[in-house]
This record gives sequence, C-alpha cells and structure tokens, in this order.
Amino acid sequence: MNKEPGQTVSPWMSQEVPPLPSMSTGAHADVCVVGAGIAGVTTAYCLMKEGRSVILLDDSQPGRGMTERTTAHLSNAIDAGYTEIERLHGLQGARLAANSHTAAIDWIEKTAHEAGIDCDFLRLDGYLCAASPDDAQRIKDEWAAALRAGLADVEPVDRLPGPLTQNGPCLRFPRQAQFHPMKYLAGLVKAIAQGKCRAFSGSHVTKVESGKQVRVETSQGCVVTADAVVVATNTPINNMVTIHTKQAAYITYVISATIPAGAVEQALWWDTQDPYHYVRTQRRSLPGGGEELLLIVGGEDHKAGQADDAEFRYGRLEAWARAQFPAMGGVTHRWSGQVMESVDGLAFIGKNPGDENVYIATGDCGMGMTHGTIAGLLLTDLIKGRDSPWSSLYNPSRHPVKAMGEFVRESLNVVAQYTDWVTKGDVARAEDIPNGEGAVLRDGLTKIAAYRDADGVLHTCSAVCPHLNCIVSWNHSEHTWDCPCHGSRFDKFGQVLNGPAITDLTRLNT
Ligand SMILES: Cc1cc2nc3c(=O)[nH]c(=O)nc-3n(C[C@H](O)[C@H](O)[C@H](O)COP(=O)(O)OP(=O)(O)OC[C@H]3O[C@@H](n4cnc5c(N)ncnc54)[C@H](O)[C@@H]3O)c2cc1C
Ligand code: FES
Repeated sequence: MNKEPGQTVSPWMSQEVPPLPSMSTGAHADVCVVGAGIAGVTTAYCLMKEGRSVILLDDSQPGRGMTERTTAHLSNAIDAGYTEIERLHGLQGARLAANSHTAAIDWIEKTAHEAGIDCDFLRLDGYLCAASPDDAQRIKDEWAAALRAGLADVEPVDRLPGPLTQNGPCLRFPRQAQFHPMKYLAGLVKAIAQGKCRAFSGSHVTKVESGKQVRVETSQGCVVTADAVVVATNTPINNMVTIHTKQAAYITYVISATIPAGAVEQALWWDTQDPYHYVRTQRRSLPGGGEELLLIVGGEDHKAGQADDAEFRYGRLEAWARAQFPAMGGVTHRWSGQVMESVDGLAFIGKNPGDENVYIATGDCGMGMTHGTIAGLLLTDLIKGRDSPWSSLYNPSRHPVKAMGEFVRESLNVVAQYTDWVTKGDVARAEDIPNGEGAVLRDGLTKIAAYRDADGVLHTCSAVCPHLNCIVSWNHSEHTWDCPCHGSRFDKFGQVLNGPAITDLTRLNT
C-alpha cells in the first residue's frame, strides 16, 4: 500500500525516504508506535535512544501523511496566540506552551546535528503582522501575553524587512526556525533503522487493545504485542468519539513560487486575518546545477469536506502573495493538506482516555512539527514512568471548560452535517459524471460515492463514512472523498487514507 492523501504535489515530495519492508509475521517489542509521520518517527527515535525496543508500523511509507504536505515553520509563536492560550490554560499553561515549543525547536536542531541530518535547518526571525490597522491592539495584547509567557525577546517592529506590504504593526519573534521536513524525516528513519527499531510499511492497523500487554492488529493479519502503544496517526484511529468531539479537521492550501534571492529576507511570517496567511522561503537545488529561492505561502483554510472550491482559493492565495511580494515569479507547486484544530489551541499528547498503556498524539493545530516533537519527548517520559512538566497541559483527558463556546460551535457544525442524508445528490444521474471525476448520487434513502475513471468505468461505494455515518464529499482538487464531520478521507476508489475511519467505504460495484 503506497497511499497518497491527494494528487497535488509539494516541493518536499521529491525527497527520497528509505523505503520500509512490509511485515509478514507478528512480533513483540517494548513499545509499538503506529504512524510514521513526524510524531511517530520522533517518538520511535526518542524511545530507541532510551534503550527501548520499538516496532513502528505505517500503512504507507514514512511521511506520506501530512508530514510531506507541511510548510514546516518551527515556531514558538503559538498559532492560537498567547492571549488566547493564557485565557484558556492560565498563565502557567501559557508559559509551559512557550517552553515546550521552544524546547522542540532546540531538540530538532540538536538532533539534526548529532545524527548528521542535513535538513536545511535554519534559525530565523518570525513576524506576526496585523492584517489591518484595526488589529493594532491585538498585536499589542499579544506582545504583552508573549512576554508574560516568558518570551522576553519578542518585540514590536515598525517596518518589516523585505517587501511585505502589510499595513499594520508587527511583532518579531527571534530564534524561530525552518527546515526541509522530508530530509529531516528521512534522516530520523535512517537513524532508527540502524538502532533497536523495526519499522514496517504496508501495515494498516485496524485494532488497538489496551491492557498490561497491548495488542495491535493489522489488516494484513499480523499481531504486535507490546508493553505500550503510541497511536500517532495524525488523528487517532483507536479513539472513536472522545477526542473527535474536541478537535476539528480543516483543509489548508499552499502555493510556492520562485522569487529572486535578495528580493525577500528569509523569515517566517503570519498575519492576523481569519484564516491567517503563513509564509516562508526555501532554497532548492536545480537539476542542472545552481539553486533558486521559493516563496511558500499558505492559508485559505476551511472545514474539511465543507467546501470544494480549491481553484478559487489557490487564486486568492496567489493574488494575496503577489500583492505582498511584487517580485514573486511563476508558481511552481500548489497543494493542500489537513490540520486538526483542537478547541483549546494545543495538541492532545498522553494517555488515551480510559485505556491502559495506550498513548496518543493528535490535535496539531497547524503546529504539528513542534507538537509532533513534543510528543516524542513527552511520551517517552510517560512511558518510562518519569514526570514531565508538560503532561497536564497536553493531557488528552483535559476538559476544555474555558473553550466551551468553540466546543459547542464545532459540535453543532458536526450535527448539521447529518442533513446531507436528506439532500439531493451532486448530480442527478451517473451519466452526468465526466471521466476522471467523482460525485455523490442519491439512491433511494441513501447516497453513493461514484467515481468515473479515465476510461469511463464507474466505481461506486457507499457515501456513508464508516466512522460515524456522515456523508462524504468529493474533493475535485485532490480526488479524494472527504468526510465533513471528523476528517476521515478516502481515495477515489474508497480506500481509507486517514482516520478516524479505519475501514474503506463499502464497495458497491467491484
Ligand atoms: C499545508 C500544511 C501546512 C502546515 N504547516 C505547518 C507548519 O508550518 N508548522 C508546523 O509545525 N506544522 C504545520 N502543519 C502541520 C503538520 O504538518 C502536521 O501536523 C504533521 O505533519 C502531522 O504529523 P503526524 O506525524 O501527526 O501525522 P502524519 O504525518 O499524517 O503521519 C501519520 C501517519 O500515520 C499513518 N496511518 C494513518 N492511519 C493508519 C493506520 N490505520 N495504520 C497504520 N498507519 C496509519 C499514515 O500513513 C501516516 O504516515 C501543516 C500542515 C499542513 C497540511
Ligand atoms: S469522520 Fe466521523 S463520521 Fe466521518
């Protein structure tokens, strides 16, 4: 199985990652880690460094989830903002959030150095800019909250380096960083393969049983037993309800374009629009020798499965980028991916509620590079029975009492999606679906997800998501079926790409 969560391509995907073998029999290890994205691979690496034997399972190859679709800002400027983090988690919580993200960046830098991973790691400044003069007070408040959280070097700047033409004040966050996520991941995978970690691809996990000895089953018929299991599948495939009521899946869009070196400072940028824009640069080698600079611009987020207008969003992103960076050249890549937004702005990392020896890492909040690294450090502490100052902040069992407004809003949004059961199909008849496209059809009381391939053959599945029965939507840009409720995604033939669903859409005609 070599699944791709979409057909668009990011600049990171050209990086080769050591392919993993598939598993043919069951096995035992101290810890089983499920999911070989940044969270799972970092956790496997940290456990291995502490002398634990590890089995790492992924149903695809490493990084083929959201890690190859990221923009890899490494930042302690929390996306939700320190004002909001302090309101939701208290002053001590905001301090621990700042401390943990700072530690994650430092750890990535140190590990890349120690393990000899050449991943273009670069320290640089980050700028949070008011998108309009009306947001000036918000920037002031954010500065005060960042200082209270312990980020003493954050400071306001009147004028931005480079040509960004934002028209409000900005904050400078020093000592942020960026890297090439797939070069980094490939380096970590190489390191774990040389240690006490047995890593396997093609292992689709369908069951995780908690207990003194945990038991992990794959759809290929293998059983792994271990003292503990870490489920790092971006969104948990073992926790069917609790966590999914506290986080929501959003699709976010990115373009990259050439820009003359010298026309822009290498820095990270974010603005205060909702949804906000995020910007960085990346040097890349050219096939004939030499290199060029790419400007990478993201934004235009919407709830997964609730909009299908990618062309319009890419167009708006490009127009915004050209207005801010007039020297921008031709667009080289356009891609999208999914982020899991927790209702209270921080990830869920720790023991899975109600389970024994089962741990999860999810709720990246658009900061999965650092949250995934925090997961590696924190889960290793928990599994080794050590205290961690971060454990209660990231505890998956926490009750988001102060985020009740957001919790209710997201819950009502999910309930509203069930009305899809009584609406019309996207098209009236299967004949109306052109070659290479998909559409939802009504069939009596239920709905069908129909995809017509390039040769005109129609492939049909039930449009009912096997997680909690919402109706999936066709994503014209990525050629996936996306669930509007909790973010499950399926390829055009109905094969599950990511959770919480663990099974495919039910096939009807093949
Ligand atoms: C466009 C975009 C921009 C982003 N920008 C940033 C940024 O600038 N900074 C930042 O910090 N974060 C950013 N993020 C978030 C970050 O990229 C992700 O949070 C992070 O990559 C997620 O890593 P992960 O290891 O949790 O999950 P993934 O990388 O998705 O890995 C999960 C793995 O689990 C496997 N899997 C799933 N189900 C199963 C199963 N049943 N059995 C076996 N294996 C399974 C998948 O194949 C996959 O390999 C961005 C995300 C996107 C989409
Ligand atoms: S992801 Fe929950 S119903 Fe589809």
